[in-house]
Amino acid sequence: MDDDQQLEEALGGGPATREAPGFVFLCCQVGAEAAVKAELQRRWSQLRFAFSRPGFLTYKLPANHGLFADFDLNIVFARCWGFSLGTVRASDTESPARDVWRVYGERPCRRMHVWQRDQHPAGEHDFEPSITPAAREAHAAIRKACPRPGELAAEAHNPVAPAQRGEMVLDCVLVEPDVWWVGYHRAWEPVSCWPGGIPPLRLPPHAASRAWLKTQEALSWSGLPMPRGARVVELGSAPGGSSQALLARGLEVVGIDPAAMHPSVLGEVGFTHLRRRVRQVRRREFRKARWLLADMNVTPNCTLDAVEAIIRYPMVHIRGMLLTLKLPEWSLAKEVPKYLQRIRAWGYNDVRARQLAHNRQEICVAALMKPFRRTPERGSPATDR
Ligand SMILES: C[S@@+](CC[C@H](N)C(=O)[O-])C[C@H]1O[C@@H](n2cnc3c(N)ncnc32)[C@H](O)[C@@H]1O
Repeated sequence: MDDDQQLEEALGGGPATREAPGFVFLCCQVGAEAAVKAELQRRWSQLRFAFSRPGFLTYKLPANHGLFADFDLNIVFARCWGFSLGTVRASDTESPARDVWRVYGERPCRRMHVWQRDQHPAGEHDFEPSITPAAREAHAAIRKACPRPGELAAEAHNPVAPAQRGEMVLDCVLVEPDVWWVGYHRAWEPVSCWPGGIPPLRLPPHAASRAWLKTQEALSWSGLPMPRGARVVELGSAPGGSSQALLARGLEVVGIDPAAMHPSVLGEVGFTHLRRRVRQVRRREFRKARWLLADMNVTPNCTLDAVEAIIRYPMVHIRGMLLTLKLPEWSLAKEVPKYLQRIRAWGYNDVRARQLAHNRQEICVAALMKPFRRTPERGSPATDR
């Protein structure tokens, strides 16, 4: 698809809702900036780089871009994006919150999404993206200064509450403690409903591992239609946070891992542990499974080889998958289109990828076969991304 088609694809809607700000902002993990830039260069080459800080970038849009407020950049390494309107320097003003509204102008507004750009690379110092105390404080001040409070949604007082689909959202990114970047978007996909693209999750005390967070997020983001009672196999299941998230949704889980599962997971009804490496598992163990998760600490090609060996087996019928692909080197980011193409060639025609807020240096791929054919046509045409 060429660049003009990309823009056309993102237009949608009627002329009455066209918007004309000149810049967009994007947020990503610290360290993912080069991957974001490369994706934009490849897919949106009319955008011109303007400014960046770790985890935050802005780009100039072409004149007459015609994008709507719910535009989807459709790129893997950006966590969230929106139109950029300008900055407020908290040190230069007595009331930064009032200045935020001045920059925002007369646009309608139902919610305020306020967050800080990531302070550390994912996983460093146990860093987990969240709506920080500084962001909560700024959110409260901006809400208090709202010139038209009657327009706000009832839940707008809650800094982590997701927006409803279709709502206009004021975005305020704390790029530095005293430099606030103001923008907006219209909430549409699940990720654009979450403040800063971060789902409102908190690791529960009973979680066996932080993989609980990424599997919860992956399920919400992907919307894979896994019915209660369906069987899921998880490759790389120990110690078991991810299996817990699946079991809590009423799924039956077969965990495959040579390492020990947490005792609390082993005791759960609906969980079976095959304490082996994937290649030591007999293929018929996969026959009743319709869904597959993989979260092994191996290279992306090793994960894809292991998955391919399973799904190509004649008696195995996997309808959808959530695959974590580890990127031990950031240079592997440029290989992502090849990984996705390989998965499409297995007959999965809806393949999407995202670096989840709770992913570390890795991405999540969601793959679905629509409609589900027990014998997929290998190499059938597929949608992009
Ligand atoms: C990131 S951890 C998985 C975390 C897990 N999903 C959870 O919810 O706690 C990676 C796991 O992959 C497992 N692993 C690595 N190679 C494997 C293989 N060939 N077959 C099965 N498991 C493997 C490791 O033993 C390790 O437990």
